[in-house]
Amino acid sequence: MRLALERRLYLAGAVAGERALRTTSSACGMASMLPSDQTFRIRTACPEDAAALSDLVFRAKAFWGYPKEWMEEWRDELRVTSEYVAQNRVVVAEVDHTLLAFYGLEFRADHAYLQHLWVDPGRIGFGVGRKLLAMACGDARKNGYRVIELVADPNAEGFYARQGAVRIGEIHGTVLGTARILPKMQLVL
Ligand SMILES: CC(C)(COP(=O)(O)OP(=O)(O)OC[C@H]1O[C@@H](n2cnc3c(N)ncnc32)[C@H](O)[C@@H]1OP(=O)(O)O)[C@@H](O)C(=O)NCCC(=O)NCCS
Repeated sequence: MRLALERRLYLAGAVAGERALRTTSSACGMASMLPSDQTFRIRTACPEDAAALSDLVFRAKAFWGYPKEWMEEWRDELRVTSEYVAQNRVVVAEVDHTLLAFYGLEFRADHAYLQHLWVDPGRIGFGVGRKLLAMACGDARKNGYRVIELVADPNAEGFYARQGAVRIGEIHGTVLGTARILPKMQLVL
C-alpha cells in the first residue's frame, strides 16, 4: 500500500519533472539539440523493460570503441535483469516510446550507488546525461541520502567530474589480460 502510494507520488514527481524539462529546455538549449519532438518522457522502469535496458547498456558501452572481444567478455555483467529493475530505482527517459536513456540507483546503507547511467549512442552529447544525473541526485536526496557513489567508465569520468563528482579511489581489474583502472567517484548532494 505504502509502496504503491510512493510509486504514485514518484510518478507524479516525474511528470512534473517532464513538464520542467519542456519549459526549461529552450532556456538551456536542449530543445534545439534534441531531434524529433524535442522532449522526452520520464517513467519508472518495470521488470519487462529489462531486455531493452540491457540492449541499451551494451550499445552505449560500445560507443567508446572497445574491442568486440571485450564487449563479449562483458556481456553478462552489462545485462540488466528483471530482478534488478524490481529491486532498485530504475528510471527511463523515452522519446516516442523509444528508450533514450536510463539511470539505476541502489539505496545502500550509507550512500546511494549509481549503478547505471546510459544514453542511447545516437543521443550522446545533447544534455540528456546531465538531466538524468540531476534527476538521480534529486531522487537520492528525497530518499534521505547526502552522497552518491559510482564506478565510472574511464571515458565517462570527465562527464561526472563536470557534474561535481570527485575521484575517491580506483578499482583495478583486467579484461582478457589487459589491465584496466576504473575511477571510483563520489558526488556530494
Ligand atoms: C556518459 C554519458 C552518460 C554522458 O551523457 P551525455 O548526455 O552524453 O552528456 P551531456 O550531453 O549531458 O554532457 C553534460 C556535460 O558533460 C560534458 N561531457 C559529456 N560527456 C563527457 C565526457 N565523456 N568527458 C568529458 N566531459 C563530458 C559535456 O561536454 C557537457 O558539458 P557542459 O556542461 O560544459 O555543456 C553518456 O555519454 C553515455 O551514456 N556514454 C556511454 C555509456 C557510459 O559510459 N555511461 C556511463 C557509465 S559509468
